[in-house]
Amino acid sequence: MKTIFRTADGSDTVFDSGLHCHYHSINGAFTESQHVFILNGFDRCAPGRQAVRIFEVGLGTGLNALLTACRAAEHPNLMVSYHAIEAEPLALHLAGQLNYPDFLGTEETKNLFYKLHQVPWDQCIALLPNFCFRKIQADFLSWCPDAAYDLIYHDAFAPGDQPELWTHDAIQTMRNALDCGGILSSYCAKGSFRRTLRACGFEVMRLPGPPGKREMTLATAI
Ligand SMILES: C[S@@+](CC[C@H](N)C(=O)[O-])C[C@H]1O[C@@H](n2cnc3c(N)ncnc32)[C@H](O)[C@@H]1O
Repeated sequence: MKTIFRTADGSDTVFDSGLHCHYHSINGAFTESQHVFILNGFDRCAPGRQAVRIFEVGLGTGLNALLTACRAAEHPNLMVSYHAIEAEPLALHLAGQLNYPDFLGTEETKNLFYKLHQVPWDQCIALLPNFCFRKIQADFLSWCPDAAYDLIYHDAFAPGDQPELWTHDAIQTMRNALDCGGILSSYCAKGSFRRTLRACGFEVMRLPGPPGKREMTLATAI
């Protein structure tokens, strides 16, 4: 069963009682997404580019997609294409209870959040003039990339809860989907994850983590 949980910064996440997992850090869902994927993912990847192609592993609540669309809106000359895979989409009624629209505040954000949950799956939809969004309803483990990417948000459940998304094969699939110089960002700081990244052709950097985590990982495809 999935329920809404209020995290320490006042933003919501989802708790899956079957897996016994939260979708974000309980120390702050918004703070974690903003730190790991926007400040240390998007903001590191975008400078100097006219276009950024992003792939997210685990769309979940749509918070990373929403924050990325908000950031894209600040860069109207940058074309952002955002593909997100999700094996078990959240029910719309649950997504509708998440407090992100109120937490983030503006009318534009509210509209974006509802739209990103309501748009059809497996179609590219322009949510903003410079933000094209495609939700892929599929299991990452049987996914074959049909596009190349500049940035991957690896936001699956933690290796201890979902080891199959952190194996050599899974990380190699992500590496193969990135162009050289592309970036993978993750909240995970485990040594085994970093070793797997190196073995799959990434250069690995440790960065300070969001509240409650000493470090996060940023990997560049070489
Ligand atoms: C940690 S939560 C993701 C949080 C999400 N990025 C967000 O902002 O809400 C992990 C997500 O990955 C999805 N997931 C788990 N296994 C998957 C798989 N094999 N393929 C695709 N998605 C998967 C889960 O259903 C869940 O939505």
